[in-house]
Amino acid sequence: MDKKLELLHAKREQAMQGGGAQRIESQHKKGKLTARERLHFLLDEGSFQEIGMLVTHRSVDFGMEKEKYPGDGVITGYGTVNGRLVYVFSQDFTVFGGSLSETHAEKICKVMDLALKNGAPVIGLNDSGGARIQEGVVSLGGYADIFYRNTMASGVIPQISAIMGPCAGGAVYSPAITDFILMVEHTSYMFVTGPNVVKTVTHEVVTSEELGGAHTHATKSGVTHFACPNEIAAIQHIKQLLSYMPQNCEDKAPSLPYEPGDELRPALNSLLPPAPSTPYDIREVIEQVIDQDSFFEVHKDFAENLVIGFARLAGRSIGIVANQPAFLAGVLDIHSSTKGARFVRFCDCFNIPLLVFEDVPGFLPGTDQEWNAIITNGAKLLYAFCEATVPRVTVITRKAYGGAYDVMNSKHIGADMNFAWPSAEIAVMGAKGAAEIIFKREISHADDHEGKWQEMEQLYADTFANPYRAAERGFIDEVIEPAETRAKLISAFKMLENKVANNPRKKHGNIPL
Ligand code: COA
Repeated sequence: MDKKLELLHAKREQAMQGGGAQRIESQHKKGKLTARERLHFLLDEGSFQEIGMLVTHRSVDFGMEKEKYPGDGVITGYGTVNGRLVYVFSQDFTVFGGSLSETHAEKICKVMDLALKNGAPVIGLNDSGGARIQEGVVSLGGYADIFYRNTMASGVIPQISAIMGPCAGGAVYSPAITDFILMVEHTSYMFVTGPNVVKTVTHEVVTSEELGGAHTHATKSGVTHFACPNEIAAIQHIKQLLSYMPQNCEDKAPSLPYEPGDELRPALNSLLPPAPSTPYDIREVIEQVIDQDSFFEVHKDFAENLVIGFARLAGRSIGIVANQPAFLAGVLDIHSSTKGARFVRFCDCFNIPLLVFEDVPGFLPGTDQEWNAIITNGAKLLYAFCEATVPRVTVITRKAYGGAYDVMNSKHIGADMNFAWPSAEIAVMGAKGAAEIIFKREISHADDHEGKWQEMEQLYADTFANPYRAAERGFIDEVIEPAETRAKLISAFKMLENKVANNPRKKHGNIPL
């Protein structure tokens, strides 16, 4: 038995070495952790159970049969994060550059299958040179096997992808299908085709970092939800993200113990600037309303005119979608619509109630927006709210104009409770523009055009720039003092705790894409 145990220990030891000491050193020199170190920081101590440690590739081309590493460039298994079960895979760049072989893909598929059957999140730590070039089509098949599972698992279990090195070509599409992507600044990049191909095809000269680094994808493309300064920060982000989500679509969103106290927030009564066109930061409202320091913003630097993120209200996990008057006056545009829509759909998939703060002057005008399909993209946010069956509550702080009023979780599209502050202006458009159109004749016939215009603008504002017309109709359930917002929301979400709503039976909807 001793000899047999020795053999087992030797095999295990070899697997622990990955691609060897030299390659591990070179990984560290790049400022990167190894695949095992990453799992060590992610999972609760002693909780990791590895699956497939001794798997090797089956390739026999180009002398590959002589170069085998147990584990084949990916460490897979399960463990716990703050006591909750998660399935993980962590690509090992020290073994064939973390490239994806047939067996490497099989290992990932195995944990994904287990995760789906057992209803727990999958976390992928990606660090890979792409398809294993020596294996050809079998490695491409391996990717497709993963994409298929990502899609089948979508909406059933949360899927999170951290990009901690290269992620290029076909490799990008697994993270793209998952729910959240995190990238590490300066050591990770994602692109479909790299700088060399770009240069050949479009003659653009661009570095990997410019083309697909964390900053680029966090600000320009929105591909990543988080850009983290280093790998440890990325791992902390994953843990925090998980803390707001349930294990699967059948599970309730997590709730922390909560001691009721004084829920009034008098500061909110004087938070809005006196002039309706002066910007303010909607995050200040959010912070006042939610449990202290519980806001976890998603897509912080992308489409900043819409703020989205997770928070806790009386201990319960909620998703927040809020217009941001401090950026582009809070208008809706293409990027903010798609950003909001995807978040709303995530929350709806995983039973996370939605809270909307509304201060929106409308959709952004312009050829750029129209030619790039603001119609189709704006419709995504509308559609996402319409189909969401989780508890949904809206607070209109100031402007709720035009079609954007409908889109931002209005009563008409299924919101459960709609509140408005006395400062709310619920109208087809701003008073100035409205007066110019409907009182055109009166203004043009007046001796004092400017004076008449102002008079008619005031008339329109007095009639519509308030929440009371909507409240009379029941489109607003209650006009509340800003100071009462937190108390009203806690009560509303408690009342909606057992909400059951089912959409008509269908194969699946056809969201405008
Ligand atoms: N298939 C097989 N082996 C790969 C690989 C791949 N796709 N990508 C990298 N490797 C191997 C390298 O041969 C090298 O092996 P070694 O340690 O035995 O020398 C090791 O991984 C590290 O690669 P290296 O190129 O030295 O690292 P780098 O940090 O300088 O560059 C990449 C990383 C990813 C930019 C570079 O390896 C690369 O361009 N890889 C190919 C990417 C690609 O086109 N993939 C296929 C399309 S999906």
